[in-house]
Amino acid sequence: GIDEKVAQLLAKMTLEEKVGQLNQYTGDRLATGPVTANTTKYQDIKAGKVGSMLNVRGVKDTRMVQEIAMQSRLKIPLLFGLDVIHGYRVTFPVPLAEAASWDLKAIETSARVAATEAAASGQHWTFAPMVDVSRDPRWGRVMEGAGEDTYLGSLIAKARVKGFQGNGLGNLDAVMACVKHFAAYGAAIGGRDYNSVDMSERMLWETYLPPFKAALDAGAATFMNSFNDLNGIPATGNSYLQRDILKDKWGFKGFVVSDWGSIREMVAHGFAKDNTQAAELAIKAGSDMDMEGHAYIANLVKLVNDKKVDLALIDDAVKRILRKKFELGLFDDPYRFCNEERELKVLNSAENRAKARDVAKRSIVLLKNDKQLLPLSKKLKTIAVIGPLAKSNKDMMGFWSVKWDNDHLVSLYEGLQNKLGKNTQLLYAEGCDLADTAKCNFAEAVAIARKADVVIMAVGEAYDMSGEAKSKANIHLPGAQENLIKVVQKTGKPMVVLTMSGRPLIFNWTADHVDAILHTWWLGSEAGNAMADVLFGDYNPGGKLPMSFPRSEGQIPVYYNYKSTGRPSPTDMASTYRSGYLDMQNSPRYAFGYGLSYTTFALTDLKLDSHKFKQNDSLTVTCNLKNTGRFAGEEVVQLYLQDVFASVTRPVKELKGFEKVYLKPGESKTVKFVIGKEMLSFYDQQMKWGTEAGEFKLMIGNASDHIVLEDRFELEN
Ligand code: IFM
Repeated sequence: GIDEKVAQLLAKMTLEEKVGQLNQYTGDRLATGPVTANTTKYQDIKAGKVGSMLNVRGVKDTRMVQEIAMQSRLKIPLLFGLDVIHGYRVTFPVPLAEAASWDLKAIETSARVAATEAAASGQHWTFAPMVDVSRDPRWGRVMEGAGEDTYLGSLIAKARVKGFQGNGLGNLDAVMACVKHFAAYGAAIGGRDYNSVDMSERMLWETYLPPFKAALDAGAATFMNSFNDLNGIPATGNSYLQRDILKDKWGFKGFVVSDWGSIREMVAHGFAKDNTQAAELAIKAGSDMDMEGHAYIANLVKLVNDKKVDLALIDDAVKRILRKKFELGLFDDPYRFCNEERELKVLNSAENRAKARDVAKRSIVLLKNDKQLLPLSKKLKTIAVIGPLAKSNKDMMGFWSVKWDNDHLVSLYEGLQNKLGKNTQLLYAEGCDLADTAKCNFAEAVAIARKADVVIMAVGEAYDMSGEAKSKANIHLPGAQENLIKVVQKTGKPMVVLTMSGRPLIFNWTADHVDAILHTWWLGSEAGNAMADVLFGDYNPGGKLPMSFPRSEGQIPVYYNYKSTGRPSPTDMASTYRSGYLDMQNSPRYAFGYGLSYTTFALTDLKLDSHKFKQNDSLTVTCNLKNTGRFAGEEVVQLYLQDVFASVTRPVKELKGFEKVYLKPGESKTVKFVIGKEMLSFYDQQMKWGTEAGEFKLMIGNASDHIVLEDRFELEN
């Protein structure tokens, strides 16, 4: 078996070679020239001092670098890793957008395509999925996750791991998943990237850890730790997280890679006095591989020789890494992912682009559709396409687009051209710059709007406004964009606004005054085609927000599963001495789970098979969903529960189930949920997971703030 092979190899390794396996370098600035290139990194690879490379892209380059590893004494193959976050060559919607689809099959497909392309292009490993729950849209990395909810986030984490790892490591279309960032990175204080996290054990276990556990249960091969400190201890040097929870309690058999330089950053944290101590703390805490931190390679040999670090810790980390190399089949053939013909064939196929278009249209959320302005008719004579994102394709890619292909990106404008025949005239004006308020040409925008039957307005964020290190204190539509909307709205022309971003944005005036709004996020390579599908009714949007859109930054964090408090805040602003603001409602502008459709749905006939059940039994709940409108479409039926009274306070509601249902006009379906003990459990005062007998409230609706059916039941001892 693999364990035996690992043990045999380990027995042959010198301490230097062992430490080498724990070292990962970036290939970013490596000259991709002849193998003889004389850089320190190449020399280190040749000397067996490197276990993995990140940021070496493509078959040609990965092969070249692997050839150097094959000149090392033991010929241990390198692992190649890359941030394949939402597609490789064919770019899919950013992960937060995909989460808005609430479509686990679509999300798995996206990860599957990404893995297939990446593996065909020499990669063994993606640094995804990011499963950090976040309730703070100021944090730019919300773009990479699944939003604010633990339950939805856990299911999505699972789907992504399954997609990346396919039928298992060793298959030529599977890459290792890397679940990140362990842990609680999404709760950085003030939404400032890399910032400290301070949270209760209950919050950690209940809200932030479950998606990691779900990803682990789905078989995730690796984990990445995080930049933040958690309750005073940097995650990288945190043995409670990495050893006690991940490796011991959860039994994780894969390996943990540090985040970029996070080992040496423990010096800046003020947690280690120098790099040497940082290396010691990190290896002891369970960080197996040092990503571009140069701390292990510089210090671990000496630390072991000085008896400061036990050799057994090094051996354990090396074994974990070697095991994955064996599972990937790299010892049978280190070049098995380096096939140029396969790369050419697999990348950018029409089939993959069709899948990207499908996932993209499923990710769009219809926020408003007054006067049923949408869908638009394909027979419109003249359309004014306005806005700084109307002709942009690069921005549609979003952050972490790793190997896109410029020839296959579809902007909104191109998508409209593709959709509409010659009988429709498209007029275009940029209107204003994305960020620079001095660069505006409102007059041109107004002039073309006046000539048009309908205005399609494309506003939002540039690709680099959300993502790593892209925290913002102001998350309103950037620059003069909302002013542009105001000015064009004055023409009286019907207007659809498409908001594009990697995070929730604030655009209150638009929400109040414009008839139709589609939040399209950053949709990837096929963005324009997907938007055109939705605008003209070839696809009826069914997305639901995975994260609340605030009315103001002052409300942040604003999320649906808050606690009642002793002074619950009624919607009536006039009532005083309640937990609320004097100048604003508590509710977000658009709530978690919210999203409209071109059709209408009715939820009726709530039935519980009993109103009492015992701990080990279950309760079956059914309701009826009917499409009462004129278009076929999908609705996400959402089940929320509340433990009305318990030994610790519980959220006013928590998502515990959902089903996405497709119905033709007039069609109905019975939707069924089975409620069991797990759905009712929580951590009690002693942090013991379990249920407490008593009353529960059950709520079914099509948004967290739109509950249509309600009942109560009792859990008996
Ligand atoms: O995978 C990423 C991580 O999410 C943030 N720091 C850099 C890593 C590698 O690019």
